Amino acid sequence: MNTLRSVVPRAQRPDIQPRNFDMPLGDDTPRYFANNDPYLTHFMNALSCIFPGGERFFVSSVLAYQKQVTDPELKRQVRQFCAQESIHGQQHEAFNRWTEKYGLGMAEMTKDYEAILLKTSKRESKLSKLAMTAALEHVTAILGHALLSTPEVQKRMHPSVLQLWMWHAIEEIEHKAVAFDVYQEMGGSYIRRVGQLLGATMGLALSAIILMTILLWRDRQLFNVRSFFRFILIFWETGYAATAWRGYREYFRRDFHPWQTDDRDLLNTYLPDVGKYVGGNQGRLQEVSA
Ligand SMILES: [Fe+2]
Ligand SMILES: [Fe+2]
Repeated sequence: MNTLRSVVPRAQRPDIQPRNFDMPLGDDTPRYFANNDPYLTHFMNALSCIFPGGERFFVSSVLAYQKQVTDPELKRQVRQFCAQESIHGQQHEAFNRWTEKYGLGMAEMTKDYEAILLKTSKRESKLSKLAMTAALEHVTAILGHALLSTPEVQKRMHPSVLQLWMWHAIEEIEHKAVAFDVYQEMGGSYIRRVGQLLGATMGLALSAIILMTILLWRDRQLFNVRSFFRFILIFWETGYAATAWRGYREYFRRDFHPWQTDDRDLLNTYLPDVGKYVGGNQGRLQEVSA
């Protein structure tokens, strides 16, 4: 990870491009698409249930400040950020519907999760929601960075599902600073920023564990001990956990900015691979029927 004290200037950061994405799922996409393993697959499925509601929460938290943003470039980035996140939510919903053939109820879990998220965050102030969004955007960016940096993890995923996660990871990196920059422009404090990171991380981890446990139970795989150990090991063996942790802790620095980590090379490396599945802004979102 190339971490600088200096910040990549706004003009030199990658453009935030909302891309339509044609998910290449089909009959050859296996039930256990990650490492051929129930635990890792259902961990990713749990995240896929969290994303649609989470992305809409991020969009509404940032849009609540849209009129107060004065910097014209940041205003433009807010619009691009909202467009990207909306498409991410739609595509994860489409993926979750595709899994319905396995009878796991992921589409319903996705709706239930969003309802719970809206209820539990209702009493938070506007600024706390923005701080929570900036914190979770950091988490999604470092997880995306770790995925792009760890070919060994990429190799363990079926290519059709990998494309969805690579596309999402790339766009999370492109827009990683938007919520953070809005929070800074609104004068948000350091304490609220790191406090929300800790709270949001615990909330995200707890949600993922609960949803994953439900999925494993429904799939009769909860007591698959070998799969559990393989799931734990993969993050350590491949270096994924170490890369993600190095990125995570950066957020505690008082002078932190997301673009102190320059991941433009990673984007340049992987965007052409994903490019064949994105239809540009004119294309229609499309599911390839199974
Ligand atoms: Fe996203
Ligand atoms: Fe995001």
